[in-house]
Amino acid sequence: MRTFQQVGPLRTYLRGIRAEGKTIGFVPTMGALHDGHKGLIQRAKGDCDLVVTSAYVNPAQFAANEDFDRYPRDMNADQAIASNAGADAFFMPSTDEMYPAGFQTVVDVPDMGAVLEGAHRPTHFRGVVTVVTKLLNIVQPDRIYFGQKDYQQLIIIEHLVRDLNIQSAVILVPTVRESDGLAMSSRNAYLSEQEREAAAILYRALMLADEMVKNGVTSADEVKRDVERLISSEPLASIDYVALINPDTLQEVHSLADGVALVALAVRIGKTRLIDNWFVAPAGIPISKNRLSSQSRAK
Ligand code: PAF
Repeated sequence: MRTFQQVGPLRTYLRGIRAEGKTIGFVPTMGALHDGHKGLIQRAKGDCDLVVTSAYVNPAQFAANEDFDRYPRDMNADQAIASNAGADAFFMPSTDEMYPAGFQTVVDVPDMGAVLEGAHRPTHFRGVVTVVTKLLNIVQPDRIYFGQKDYQQLIIIEHLVRDLNIQSAVILVPTVRESDGLAMSSRNAYLSEQEREAAAILYRALMLADEMVKNGVTSADEVKRDVERLISSEPLASIDYVALINPDTLQEVHSLADGVALVALAVRIGKTRLIDNWFVAPAGIPISKNRLSSQSRAK
């Protein structure tokens, strides 16, 4: 695997790859790679001739009161994981490389970036969209891969790509889960042993919603109320939001009778803020018609 810290040499390398007629898959990350990232890289490797992974903790997507300073960083371990998963190139730029003196451009998808996560983290998606636009311009991949855990991010990037005529397909990959269902996340490293056990409540809440909708409950309010009640029964958990949304528009839905909805959660376990989501649909309506060939249950 080749490692690059600067844009110029990476572009030169990728120009050569493109000239050979090879396809490029791209997995952008903030490092602290885990099995979820490995799954994205492996999927990209299956689809494309060459895979680029980036690891950059993007300051622009953290608010002043968030965890930018303590976000886990281990570039040596990340390179080993990316290489073992099949990445061919690893891009690990510095902040001077990404935001040189005088940098001032901002890219935003304002409406979709203002709901759910955006309502709690108002500047977050502007930072994500700006850095992803830069990364897409640098790598110019045929396909860019995102995990379902960050579903709102994926929808926003789909908008970005469509609105700005960027020639990359955006690919959604199912969330990788621990055996108790907790979605893999770099932030799980913050959890104490007791918090780690408590964090399984998110998946249990999603499974409750899944079961209710499959059993014929059509009121989103009823599902939301029961999900909130279950999460609140865990003393270490506090809810930021529970939402039942249209997966395409991210708008809240009221009836679950007619199609696929997404249950999206943000829950603090102690001081650690975790997000997760799950597609739900009444019995007989296939989720696969929507976005995923299958979403991943805990094994
Ligand atoms: O999902 C992430 O890890 C980040 O938001 C991304 C897409 C790498 C942008 O910094």
